[in-house]
Amino acid sequence: MKPQVYITRRIPQAAVDSIAAACDYAMWDSADLPVPRDQLLAALSGVDGVLTMLTERVDAAFLAAAPRCRVVANMAGGYDNVDLAALNARNVLLTNTPGVLTDTTADLVWALMLAAARRIVEGHNLIVAGRWTTWSPMFMVGQEVSGATLGIVGAGRIGTAVARRASGFAMPIRYYNRRPAPALEEQTGARYCELDELLRTADFIVVLLPLTEETRGMFGAREFALMKPTAVFVNAARGPIVDEDALYNALQQGRPGAAGLDVFTVEPVGAEHPLLSLPNVTAVPHIGSATVATRIRMATTAATNLVAALTGRPVPNPVNPAVLPPT
Ligand code: GLV
Ligand code: GLV
Repeated sequence: MKPQVYITRRIPQAAVDSIAAACDYAMWDSADLPVPRDQLLAALSGVDGVLTMLTERVDAAFLAAAPRCRVVANMAGGYDNVDLAALNARNVLLTNTPGVLTDTTADLVWALMLAAARRIVEGHNLIVAGRWTTWSPMFMVGQEVSGATLGIVGAGRIGTAVARRASGFAMPIRYYNRRPAPALEEQTGARYCELDELLRTADFIVVLLPLTEETRGMFGAREFALMKPTAVFVNAARGPIVDEDALYNALQQGRPGAAGLDVFTVEPVGAEHPLLSLPNVTAVPHIGSATVATRIRMATTAATNLVAALTGRPVPNPVNPAVLPPT
């Protein structure tokens, strides 16, 4: 009998085809809306594996509804939607899709850096509102990007790709990470420094950390108060790493000077979110990896991981490889 699989969203056909070649599958038939929790749990009873999005909470209740499940293939680089301890306790493999979204997400970080520093969205809105009256010397002036100091918090794949892009802008780079990252230093000339020193000296502060118990709430009033009034703060990692109330107060008081945000504590954010009322906030709806090519790669990577785990082949991206049988 073929393995039984559930796919929690309509994903690109190439990924569906590669699953269908080896498994019997059912798929939630919406590309845009998450499967409601009760329908998700009901769909899991006979499955050997699940392909999930970061909109699904994969926890003890999820696993209890899926007694035969051996693998969860999350279609994302991050996996803070997954209770890894609960999976480990049940010997369920988790896989993710690192690598295929690195450059795409680094590009989006740069889009936010440039947009926030040069007031792109504010300027667009001003024109659309009919409020462009004349050219004046200090009209819509922003912050210089070229030659500014780039501060990267989190030196993983994406942080390294962001740093590589800085060479064309002649930016000195500082980074903070739990441990030094020699590859980043060699490739980009980045210099390791303590977090507080980075926050005090960087003109751009870019957060690229996973969300963990260590990083939750890592950016609060104290951290923002250390930043320059001209600093641009960018979060393209996970919303809860930042205390949004503290960021709102900090931006209102002008330190940092601007923020570019791809992620929020609660997603989707409603239009009434206080941060969106600030002219110095540039917000986009969690689109770091959102290009056609990358989303297809993420879906096919998740499918490859899922099928490999269910057919006993080497799994490309195991998060908790200890649960795999020894080969
Ligand atoms: C998106 O945020 C991801 O982790 O892939
Ligand atoms: C993500 O995959 C990272 O390592 O930054």
